[in-house]
Amino acid sequence: MTEEKMPEEREPEKRQSAAQGAAGREQGARRPVAPDEPLIFELDAPECAGPCLPEADGTARPIEELLPPEALRSEPPDLPRVNESEAVRHFTRLSVLNHHIDRGFYPLGSCTMKYNPKYHESLARLPGLAGLHPLQPPETVPGALELMHTLGRWLCEIAGLDEITLQPAAGAHGELTGLLMIRALLTDRGDARQRVIIPDSAHGTNPASARIAGYDVAQVASDADGHVDLEALREVVDERTAALMLTVPNTLGLFEPRIAEIAELVHGAGGLMYMDGANLNALLDIARPGDMGFDVVHFNLHKTFSAPHGGGGPGSGPVGVKQELAPYLPVPVVVAGQDGQPFLDHDRPRSIGKVQAFYGNFLVMVKAYIYLRRLGEDGLRRVSENAIINANYLMRRLEKIFELPFTQHAMHEFVLSGKNMRRHGLRTLDIAKRLLDFDVHAPTVYFPLIVPEALMIEPTETESVRSLDRFAEVMERIAEEARTDPETLKNAPHTTPVGRLDEVKAAKDLRLRWQPGE
Ligand SMILES: Cc1ncc(COP(=O)(O)O)c(C=O)c1O
Repeated sequence: MTEEKMPEEREPEKRQSAAQGAAGREQGARRPVAPDEPLIFELDAPECAGPCLPEADGTARPIEELLPPEALRSEPPDLPRVNESEAVRHFTRLSVLNHHIDRGFYPLGSCTMKYNPKYHESLARLPGLAGLHPLQPPETVPGALELMHTLGRWLCEIAGLDEITLQPAAGAHGELTGLLMIRALLTDRGDARQRVIIPDSAHGTNPASARIAGYDVAQVASDADGHVDLEALREVVDERTAALMLTVPNTLGLFEPRIAEIAELVHGAGGLMYMDGANLNALLDIARPGDMGFDVVHFNLHKTFSAPHGGGGPGSGPVGVKQELAPYLPVPVVVAGQDGQPFLDHDRPRSIGKVQAFYGNFLVMVKAYIYLRRLGEDGLRRVSENAIINANYLMRRLEKIFELPFTQHAMHEFVLSGKNMRRHGLRTLDIAKRLLDFDVHAPTVYFPLIVPEALMIEPTETESVRSLDRFAEVMERIAEEARTDPETLKNAPHTTPVGRLDEVKAAKDLRLRWQPGE
């Protein structure tokens, strides 16, 4: 954790910029930790045998003596034997090796890495919620059904849609679910359209989902302002078009100003409008996708609605639809009965079937529900307004030092280009790596693909002006270093547990599982 104090906390005579202060940590106090950390399997010690359970009289006895023999495995599991303190210390050490949102700023564009209140985690951990079993008869869990139903209604209201499934486990999974519903609707109409149109600024999951759903993908170019090129779109939309997949705001952080015309064009040709709602953090209580003409929208609860994105934890990608697609929602759908009580509706003969075990990742839904209850309508609007203000504040500071290819007012994020670093023999990657030395996670780099040397920055609404200023100072300092000391950037990071990694090897030679004898 950084010891760094912000400028106003320091003694006046010692006052210096936050970026200069961070440089004091460059001499690598953290570096030696990681390579020395053994795997938990390497900590295995036979004397640390399994747990002991207390008897009624308080004496502890080994588990083998307390359970009947048939309850025990014949072979012990191949798990490391470590005592509690070693296990806790091992995982605590690991937990601080990487950068994370509780440690510092995390402007990873398109990922909405906002700070999520710990209170929501603690409520989601209440035994009455966390202890539910998915195989429990539905009549024993009316509260859970009520929560899912209410959350679904709220999400529909936020997006201007009619019905929803909470089953998909991620944004990409939501995309596939939405496209399968579109395919089912068109098939029912006897209209076997084969093509999904996607702008060149889209996230890679969009074309991947379209291909998995069995569609051909047609790419449409962005115009000089970073919006969908309407003339290019007119040329490609025709009777083969099943859907247009659009991200709003797009991955350049720009709102699509001609969205009504675009929807009219696609609908006029008999296609459907799919919105990738991963960037919904910019629109809450400001604009509704359903009102813009979208028929299907996926939400990333694990971005916008109080669950962390990434890190391997569970996500949730609900998909909301307009009425005509509702019959195709995955079963079961949580609906209100005539008595107003929510129940699990399995009787949907035109459903695309199940897309996820049971009902989806329930505890992620719990956090989203709590978040929405606590914020209310006014709070929701403030989330988006502050996300937009923060992005624009930072953009106007940083455009003075880095190239800003699209200069309009941004929504929740913006994209810089590190092209002007080339004259110092540097790349965007070098900036990203150097940022780690200042306890800042790197922005998303080299995406969207239409911006050379892209640096995609999304500060989110949960950052204070102080942390935005510090980030801007760090970026200014890095730009200065590029001129005066490019080698420092080329070899960065200098203070992280490990230095620059071989990223190609890491991607191509994945070894994520420990094998006995390694
Ligand atoms: C614009 C956009 N669309 C879709 C996705 C996919 O979401 P997920 O990572 O939950 O599958 C992302 C993820 O970052 C995204 O940024």
